[in-house]
Amino acid sequence: MKILITGAAGFIGANLVMQLLKREKAVEILGIDSLNDYYDPTIKNFRLGEIKKIVAEHLDSKWTFLKGNIADKELIDRIFNDFRPDIVVNLAAQAGVRYSITNPNAYIESNIIGFYNILEACRHSYDNGAEGVRHLVYASSSSVYGSNQKVPYSTDDKVDNPVSLYAATKKSNELMAHAYSKLYNIPATGLRFFTVYGPAGRPDMAYFGFTNKLLKGETIKIFNYGHCKRDFTYVDDIVEGVIRVMKKAPERQVGEDGLPIPPYAVYNIGNSNPEKLLDFVRILQEELVAAGVLPADYDFDAHKELVPMQPGDVPVTYADTTALENDFGFRPSTTLREGLRRFANWYKTFYSK
Ligand SMILES: NC(=O)c1ccc[n+]([C@@H]2O[C@H](COP(=O)([O-])OP(=O)(O)OC[C@H]3O[C@@H](n4cnc5c(N)ncnc54)[C@H](O)[C@@H]3O)[C@@H](O)[C@H]2O)c1
Repeated sequence: MKILITGAAGFIGANLVMQLLKREKAVEILGIDSLNDYYDPTIKNFRLGEIKKIVAEHLDSKWTFLKGNIADKELIDRIFNDFRPDIVVNLAAQAGVRYSITNPNAYIESNIIGFYNILEACRHSYDNGAEGVRHLVYASSSSVYGSNQKVPYSTDDKVDNPVSLYAATKKSNELMAHAYSKLYNIPATGLRFFTVYGPAGRPDMAYFGFTNKLLKGETIKIFNYGHCKRDFTYVDDIVEGVIRVMKKAPERQVGEDGLPIPPYAVYNIGNSNPEKLLDFVRILQEELVAAGVLPADYDFDAHKELVPMQPGDVPVTYADTTALENDFGFRPSTTLREGLRRFANWYKTFYSK
């Protein structure tokens, strides 16, 4: 089994690589990542170091890492020609909603051109009757739901009104994948991730930013007086879901008109269990104290400011994950306290070095 994972030094990518190496017998994984500095690349290198430790314990499998950009078409074509992946997991992307206001180019380059290169390479993997790519799994995002009010968010909901360029690129990925799936019979599954957190996570995400601020003695702003509810998913749970999905591609079928029905699916992958933001921050603070990141007598109340709702914010968002549960028997199981404990312990070790 040959697996190509893009964004392999990223938060979800690196955790996916590690789990695959631990669990699968004789797997060959090629990871590609540009190691860009959108956030501290030290964390990306740390993750690559963690992967190396696992490789050393699983010598039956093969891990290769390539620093490169998925927007480089020649490079992507060469990788597909030489490596000939059975499964492709595209996680490389420019993430983040706010950054897309100041750096739109990064989104077009990675999320549109990069993803197009992956689709083209999948298409040509079938040239000359080759078996080619058996499944393309790619990251979409809960941000495609924009400011939809109806919860839980369902993949049946209309998502034609993105409110950021980031969301627009993710929705575009779903549309492009559909076209390629229809035209070239590429089994493709899009996963709409809902806020993923955990050790060595992304510093641009709220829980990481809160931690940095609390540590510096700064005050954190909690909107809608902390009453907003969000779906948080622990990274190990997400990886479990991704692995189950990778192994079961949508079936290739022929319709009544004799033409292929696109082997295409999109799923929400989240917790379906929204947590109040104030509870999330309280548990985070308790676990940061328990891990020794914050002092035992930390005055949390003095460092939090409850403020009104921001315009455009949605009070409650969470995933309807029924389809994922029915099709893959997947349900996240890590509690918020356990997940935040692991994050706090990692943070303590990582930053005390
Ligand atoms: N973490 C979440 O909560 C979340 C939520 C919704 C969607 N997603 C999506 O899931 C995917 C993985 O997210 P993550 O949290 O691991 O993000 P991440 O930023 O940690 O990982 C993405 C990786 O891709 C790499 N990359 C970016 N552009 C590249 C390019 N052009 N070529 C090669 N590598 C490139 C980056 O260096 C990074 O290491 C992304 O597509 C993201 O948009 C994540």
